[in-house]
Amino acid sequence: MELPFAESYKIKMVETIRRSTRQEREKWLKEAYYNLFNLRSEYVYIDLLTDSGTGAMSDKQWAEMMIGDESYAGASSYLKMKAVIKELFGFNDFLPTHQGRAAENVLFSLLVKAGDIIPGNSHFDTTKGHIEFRHAHAVDCTIDEAFHPTLYHPFKGNLDLNKLEEVLKSNPIEKIPFIVVTLTCNTSGGQPVSMENLKAVYEMAKKYGTLVIFDSARFAENAYFIKTREPGYGDKTIKEIVKEMYTYADVMTMSSKKDAIVNMGGFIGFGDRKMYEEASVYNIMFEGFVTYGGMSGRDMNALTQGLLESTEFDYLQTRIKQVEYLGEKLKQYGVPLLEPIGGHAVFLDAKSFLPAIPKEQYIAQTLAVEIYLEGGVRAVEIGTLLADRDPDTRENRYPAMELVRLAIPRRVYTNSHMDYIAATVANVFERRNQITKGLKILREAPIMRHFTVELDRV
Ligand code: F0G
Repeated sequence: MELPFAESYKIKMVETIRRSTRQEREKWLKEAYYNLFNLRSEYVYIDLLTDSGTGAMSDKQWAEMMIGDESYAGASSYLKMKAVIKELFGFNDFLPTHQGRAAENVLFSLLVKAGDIIPGNSHFDTTKGHIEFRHAHAVDCTIDEAFHPTLYHPFKGNLDLNKLEEVLKSNPIEKIPFIVVTLTCNTSGGQPVSMENLKAVYEMAKKYGTLVIFDSARFAENAYFIKTREPGYGDKTIKEIVKEMYTYADVMTMSSKKDAIVNMGGFIGFGDRKMYEEASVYNIMFEGFVTYGGMSGRDMNALTQGLLESTEFDYLQTRIKQVEYLGEKLKQYGVPLLEPIGGHAVFLDAKSFLPAIPKEQYIAQTLAVEIYLEGGVRAVEIGTLLADRDPDTRENRYPAMELVRLAIPRRVYTNSHMDYIAATVANVFERRNQITKGLKILREAPIMRHFTVELDRV
């Protein structure tokens, strides 16, 4: 018989997780003000809050931890990271930062001024936060197909070139310091951007005289989709594809907590030496000296090894097939979800799941709360709470889609866990008609409210 697909690794260390009762979870939810960020992790059986910083490092990464060089300047760990960034992305210079948003903070301190306009594909919330904090505006130029939950398009992370050109044409170019392309596009469902689109965006940027930044958190997963979906890339290695992708970027910001499979870390890669030098000043002020920037030598070593591992096809195939396995299982149960299934997560379509809840009652958050209550599975809302208020009008921004993200940590859970998650969600789906009331806000922060918001049942 044909041999089935199986994981490209085996397990060397385990961590105990515990189940809880529904009664316990009801109490904990109340104490957490229906904000899953407020739950203690031991109250969670399977944690799908994020795939960020939650991956399992390999034996080789742990070995690298032991040989980290903790010298303040000129450490071998720094030089090793520099060499691998050059090898993978082609950038000569880089600045280490403690995580992705720190990279955004350093770079945007240099590039973003009040009144600027930053087009992109559904900017991630910290990216948008760093733009709006500087009184600039993020303009979403994602293709329309991305906003139809079940419409198939192989690259729903693509930018709409007409929308982009309209922004570039109708504003003074000095007001547009760069275009940001998020790989894969987290906000629109972990959806990839095609090589063809990356090239076209870059060419348009050059035509109008601006820069392209890749928000690179899941760059390797994006490369996997190019290899498996885009004509002409099937025979190329992931590393070859990554190298080509980055010929269409001037700068990259990286949250290494995703595709570098470390618990903390980030960096900025630069094609332009002068920009690197100017940004270094901010790095030294906010993060640390240019050769460590908020990371220890051992962490840079693990990160560097992680970059090499995550650009291996076998690893990526195991990873993305697991996410797909969960998605397919949920589809069998009839659960409405975003298609095609994303690289790092399954996104449930909360509007179709809970049609009786009005948008003012935070549909996706209501669903995330019900899923936790059902089986101790913690997911995250990607809906009105995350979309936050308009910085000018202070009105709620209601996004086109209300999603619940089941983000799968890398190399952490088995497919039995996927079966458990699918059954949990299916049980909520079974009793969806009884869920007719949502949530209301008791207290919220002025920016990035979803982390700390306090809610109650309507
Ligand atoms: N860009 C993207 C596309 C992200 O998904 C994230 C983080 C960041 C930037 C910021 O990186 O967390 O290292 O500061 N996403 C996490 C998530 C938080 O759950 O999706 P960071």
